[in-house]
This record gives sequence, C-alpha cells and structure tokens, in this order.
Amino acid sequence: MFIALEGIDGSGKSTQLNILKEYLEKNGRRTYLTREPSDLSIGRTIRRYLTGELKADNRVIAALFVADRLEHILDEKEGLLRKQKEGFDIISDRYYFSSYAYQSVDMPMDWIINANSVAAELLKPDIVIFIDIPPEAAMERIKAGREGTELFETKERLTETRNKYFEAFEKLKDRENVIIIDGIGTPGEVNERITNILSKLL
Ligand code: TYD
Repeated sequence: MFIALEGIDGSGKSTQLNILKEYLEKNGRRTYLTREPSDLSIGRTIRRYLTGELKADNRVIAALFVADRLEHILDEKEGLLRKQKEGFDIISDRYYFSSYAYQSVDMPMDWIINANSVAAELLKPDIVIFIDIPPEAAMERIKAGREGTELFETKERLTETRNKYFEAFEKLKDRENVIIIDGIGTPGEVNERITNILSKLL
C-alpha cells in the first residue's frame, strides 16, 4: 500500500505520519516512511532553495520538484519502486499533489500535472490523505513551532495553496483516491479519523 499524506504547512502532517507508521506496524505491516522533497540529491538541493540559502525563479524550482519525484521513485537503492518490491508499505510526507497545489501558483496547473504524468504512471498512491485545517490555524501552529518561516509560509500563500489543493482534487477526482480529513483537534483525534478510514483498506 502506498499512502501519500498532504496538507498545507502547519497542518500537522508530520505528527500524523509517525502515529500512522506505528498503526500500520501494529497491524503487522512493514512500513517505509519517506518525504518530499526527498533526501536524495535533488531533494536536498530543493531544501536549500526553500530556506533561501539558494535563489532561483519559482519555475525553476517547479521543474526541480518534478526531477526529485522521479529520482525518489526510481533511485536504484532508495527508490520507492525498490521499496515496494522489498515488500514495504510506503507512507510519503507529500507527493505530487503538493506540486499541483504549491507550484500552480506560479505555473499553469495543467503544466504541473502533465510534467508529473510519468511519476503518476510509475507510482500512483492507493490513497491520498489530505489533512485540512484553516490557514489561520496553520499559521498559528507554524509561528508557535519554529523560528523562521520558509518560502511558502505566509497566510495569503497558505490560503492560496489550500484553494489550489481543492482545485486539483476536483480536476482529478476520477483518477485519484483522495480522502479529506478534518485536521482540527488533538493529534489523537485526528489520528482516529485517519485510522478509521485505513482500517477499511487493510
Ligand atoms: P517541509 O518543511 O519539508 O515540509 P513540512 O512543512 O510539510 O514539514 O517543506 C516542504 C515544503 O516544500 C513545503 O512548503 C511544500 C513545498 N513543496 C512544494 O512546493 N512542492 C512539492 O512538490 C513538494 C513535495 C513540497
């Protein structure tokens, strides 16, 4: 099973990711936790753009995300196809819907979707879980949790990104299995909402 976890920054994804891994392992499944940008070479470079250490036009970064995703899928040692062959369930913190939402602010969404079509053919998530919280709440969590804010972390940007996620879900509703989870509440409450859905798939 391949689960992609999505949400705007501050949605609580990272917390859920770990609880989710424990849940799957308790159910006897070997689970591989991963993220995008990946920890491979292009992904590491992308992180340097996100923190502002490196600078480039956002359209350049959009293309890097496409390349990173392919590397994440295809890398011979660490790639997701390899992990699947080895029998792991995969949970990814972000996948192509992040590009559809974040990069379509600077590029036409159809370009992003087309540029990711090879990734979508190679490896489509069995389920995309979108943890939904209002941008105001996300901004508060971001401010409380960290010192600096990254490239895409302003309230306007979060609002725009959330809207783009919903636009992408609507556009691809016949092709993708997306579940929207209410992200307001304690980590335990949100987790219960997620595992209620997963228990039907296991
Ligand atoms: P990171 O701090 O790793 O994620 P999170 O805040 O979810 O813990 O930052 C990832 C950033 O990269 C986040 O702002 C979203 C952005 N991003 C894109 O713009 N496009 C993409 O395709 C992906 C995977 C991430």
